[in-house]
Amino acid sequence: MIYSRIAGTGSYLPEKILYNTDLEKMVATTDAWIMERTGIRQRHIVAEGEGTCDMAEHAARRAMEMANCRPEDIDLIILGTTTPDKIYPSTACLLQARLGNSGAAAFDVQAVCSGFLFAFSIADKFIRSGTVKRALVVGAETYSRILDWSDRNTCVLFGDGAGAVILEASEEAGVLSTHLHADGKYNEALCVPGTVSGGKIVNGDGFTKMHGTEVFKFAVNALSSVVDEALSANNLQDSDIDWLVPHQANIRIINATAKKLKLPMEKVIVTVPEHGNTSAASVPLALDIGVRDGRIQRGQTLLLEAIGGGFTWGAALVKY
Ligand code: UT7
Repeated sequence: MIYSRIAGTGSYLPEKILYNTDLEKMVATTDAWIMERTGIRQRHIVAEGEGTCDMAEHAARRAMEMANCRPEDIDLIILGTTTPDKIYPSTACLLQARLGNSGAAAFDVQAVCSGFLFAFSIADKFIRSGTVKRALVVGAETYSRILDWSDRNTCVLFGDGAGAVILEASEEAGVLSTHLHADGKYNEALCVPGTVSGGKIVNGDGFTKMHGTEVFKFAVNALSSVVDEALSANNLQDSDIDWLVPHQANIRIINATAKKLKLPMEKVIVTVPEHGNTSAASVPLALDIGVRDGRIQRGQTLLLEAIGGGFTWGAALVKY
């Protein structure tokens, strides 16, 4: 039996940090409100001229270095993003050119904050089927570009960043299962409504719109149900999980999922205070931070989960 196994992880956060106290000068908000409702202390914002491919490249090179693989060893590049650098070609193709890889299949996946999990799941299936041996899976977002910096309901929540993993074919168990879902009837709950036509944005603007409470309630239920689904598909119990690596959107949603799993917070990788919601970059960023600081160890069982616009949501059970 062929499995896919995580051979390396990498991440990147832009240098510029925007603190809650900076936002206090931009919109009617307070550090105390943001901390209490979201757990976010700061977010990173791209420099002038820096974009999604730039951040993806940093994260990808770090993951490749850890996996000890060269660009030409990669057969497949999948990049989850909501903020591609261009309408086309895909940011995955831009990244491929930067890395100097030719010939691997390369494409973007659009599942908003679940984008990395969707990309990871697709790559896992390519590897399990024997079609490819080594995949680069990336989540990268310049979310700051699609925020209305005068809308306090959204601008305090998000940030920029990237995370990446190298998945390799292995006879040893790695990714145990992945579980993806969507329900498009909620497409307006979290969206950027505009359409590009005739060189302009029409049918709405290019900024994030969110019904926060609706997203919050849906997220808590959907994540509880998908983590149960992942555990029961593998005949595992809550107590078999060594680390929950959740989407880093809001500390209250993370706490609710951990509680549902009866996991103490010491078994949850929490990075949301440091970078806010980085959408598709959030899960691979948290994973890489947990790996590099030594908390996540080889042989441990990880539960990854995310939810995003669409709605889309998913989970993956992984033997690291
Ligand atoms: O990947 C998925 C992406 N999205 C999410 O994860 C977001 C999910 N939703 C949430 O995280 C929460 O709903 C929020 C953090 C966005 C909001 O927290 P809440 O506890 O649901 O607050 P609320 O929406 O019920 O708003 C409470 C009050 C409102 O004022 P009124 O109407 O009670 O007077 C808001 O206008 O807080 C106000 N408010 C703010 N106040 C200060 C909203 N944003 C802010 C702000 N600063 N930044």
